[in-house]
Amino acid sequence: MPGFADRLNGIAISASAAMTDKASALKAQGVKIVSLSSGEPDFPTPDHVVEAAIVAARGGDTKYPPQDGKPALKKAVQSKFLRDNGLHYELDEILIANGAKQIIYNAMMATCNPGDEVVLPTPYWISYADIARLGGARIVQVPCPAGNDFRLSATDLDAAITPKTKWLVLNFPNNPTGACCPRQDLEEIAAVLMKHPHVWILTDDIYEHLIYDDFEFRTLAEIEPRLKDRVLTVNGVSKAYAMTGWRVGFCGGPRALIAAMNNMQGQATSGINTIAQAAAIAALEGPQDYLKDRAREYQARRDLVVGLLNAIPGLRCHTPQGAFYVYPEIGACLGKTTKGGRRIETDTDFVMALLEEQQVATVQGAAYGMSPFFRISYATDTDTLREGCRRIAEFVSSLT
Ligand SMILES: Cc1ncc(COP(=O)(O)O)c(C=O)c1O
Repeated sequence: MPGFADRLNGIAISASAAMTDKASALKAQGVKIVSLSSGEPDFPTPDHVVEAAIVAARGGDTKYPPQDGKPALKKAVQSKFLRDNGLHYELDEILIANGAKQIIYNAMMATCNPGDEVVLPTPYWISYADIARLGGARIVQVPCPAGNDFRLSATDLDAAITPKTKWLVLNFPNNPTGACCPRQDLEEIAAVLMKHPHVWILTDDIYEHLIYDDFEFRTLAEIEPRLKDRVLTVNGVSKAYAMTGWRVGFCGGPRALIAAMNNMQGQATSGINTIAQAAAIAALEGPQDYLKDRAREYQARRDLVVGLLNAIPGLRCHTPQGAFYVYPEIGACLGKTTKGGRRIETDTDFVMALLEEQQVATVQGAAYGMSPFFRISYATDTDTLREGCRRIAEFVSSLT
């Protein structure tokens, strides 16, 4: 067989996608799976957004769009950054892509050279590491321990930055922990970054609207305007507006970086789907009040899940203030054996046995760079959450 590129060595299908595929395959065989692995809202895309897409398609908005995004969507993004984040970006400082994921891909590919380092507060969303590796860079982890509510310490960050650091990636509210970054932490992080002018900073704010307990979201360029010419502020419509399948992400950043990323995108996908762009305009410019209602609903689900998990001897679960994930610790389960005779040495053993013996799909902490934990997504209805937690309790209590 002809060969494959070296750059793919060590790049795997993401563990959450693999778990979702495995759960779907079991479902297709008629097994009743409780699926808590997928990172997408269960709410439908709002009607007015779908309607805007239909109008665009019927109205002939079907030609190649500009590579960097339609001016109308870039204007909507410009207004969104001002409204939600107090940030002003010129239109040539904004790029539209196929999801926040392509924004991140464009950014790393346009900047990373072999030998560069990408600093990742850990645990982290799997794709940052794989995309950075595809760009030839090396990952440097900065642990954000459970004992510190999975927050990033500015001192630890400072110690991780070297002359080779190309990027720091910030993602709060965080996937997989739901941890948020309070204003004071962000100010301390900003002070560290002011000392290291050779570092780009990518802040992935995709969960900005999913915040609880009156937490106030702030983004780095807003907190420290002197960093704005090194910060790429990344966001998208997937999570807040329940539009994961539409594939629209966007960013604001320094003009030269945006131009380089646009150059990269031009050889990969060109401009993104016109119909999805029309939908994203409707999402960003339409009513915003339902975002708070949905956040309240997620908060109630969080409280339910955290309460049920902490009632299980052997599990410890923190109470995150954002996103729709919890990341319980399972140290007490290691070294034990399941009813079905499987030995649990790692969190990967734990989630695989949980799927096979109790048909609950979750994701192992190893996939996010911090063990022994597992990730539960609570972006699903409360009956499913109750049933999932009941099965997890049965599974854990039967370990010997
Ligand atoms: C932290 C984070 N960033 C980005 C994405 C991807 O967003 P998009 O659907 O816009 O590509 C995800 C999806 O899971 C995510 O968790």
